[in-house]
Amino acid sequence: MSNKHLFLRALDGDKVERPPVWMMRQAGRYLPDFMKLRAKYDFFTRCQTPELATEITVMPVNQIGVDAAILFSDILVVPQAMGVNVEMKPNVGPWIEKPIQSMADVANLTVPNVEETLQYVFDAIKMTKQELNDKVPLIGFAGAPWTILCYMVQGQGSKTFDKAKAFCFTQPKAAHLLLQKITDTTIAYLKKKVEYGVDAVQIFDSWGGLLSPADYQTFSFNYIQQIIDALKNETKVITFGKGTWYAFETISISGTHAMGVDWTVTPKLARYLTQHRVVLQGNFDPVRLLSPIPDIKKMVKEMIDGFGKDKYIANLGHGILPNIPVDNAKAFVDAVKNYTE
Ligand code: CP3
Repeated sequence: MSNKHLFLRALDGDKVERPPVWMMRQAGRYLPDFMKLRAKYDFFTRCQTPELATEITVMPVNQIGVDAAILFSDILVVPQAMGVNVEMKPNVGPWIEKPIQSMADVANLTVPNVEETLQYVFDAIKMTKQELNDKVPLIGFAGAPWTILCYMVQGQGSKTFDKAKAFCFTQPKAAHLLLQKITDTTIAYLKKKVEYGVDAVQIFDSWGGLLSPADYQTFSFNYIQQIIDALKNETKVITFGKGTWYAFETISISGTHAMGVDWTVTPKLARYLTQHRVVLQGNFDPVRLLSPIPDIKKMVKEMIDGFGKDKYIANLGHGILPNIPVDNAKAFVDAVKNYTE
């Protein structure tokens, strides 16, 4: 097993010489080559064309030197497959013209056959695996049902997702049916991704932290748990919830292999709440990548010392921002690679 990838060894909890590193949203707008393709093809064309998705996915592997690739796609391809028209509007972001508002809207949604609706994703996985040629593992992902509901009901990004929350609080039956339909679709989707060769999956609950602890359990975690149960024996599962520190203990006993940590939590507190039951991943403040490079190096060392080098995957606390200089992103990755105790 000596040739097992560092990322997978860390996920297994093996002792490692240094932690592996990748960055959420690493295939993105801070890369000049990404911007060239972005000027030519609209967002969902890039997602739906396996050649483009492959080219974008391997960019940060070849140009930044990360230890894992994450398939270029989006969490919103799942509502698209369920029959919702999702657009990516310039300067607005995700946009749904007719958001979900009622039980009748939920009843109209399908739990699709993922091979019919999302085959382009599986084709992209196959092509990316070939292109990577086992250089680094490939991560597949999906949004947590709650985070997907946020967009389906709110219709666009929001600081509070108040319409999505109000939908859950005033029409709980419709909300739970919607969450279950998203969950069933997501399980089938992630299982297929594993079948096509992804080495691990990450569940992104970007808006989990907008809920109170009790509401998080009811409207988010109960559905994430179903996904973990369905996938944990087939692949490695990483569960990332932004702002969900109050649920760290719950997440750490869920069967997930790893848990994402955002930058508002100290490594020490994350370890205390999870007691080494899971691998931790995170948690560099994405905006800290704008700091002078010597500061980045120093803070990376402190971060790794805080988490400990084992049972740990170095990452940002959320996605990389478009205005990060490539040299700074590379300095972050190199600082992890040069780590010594
Ligand atoms: O991590 C990676 O590099 C893989 C690719 C990836 C994308 N989206 C590509 C993308 C992943 C993992 C996602 C997940 C995603 N998509 C999440 C969860 C993670 C997170 O960051 O919270 C969410 C909430 C979405 C929904 C979404 N898609 C948003 C909010 C946006 C940004 C809109 C904007 O204009 O800023 C997108 C678009 C998107 N998805 C981009 C990328 C590279 C930017 C699109 C572009 O302009 O080219």
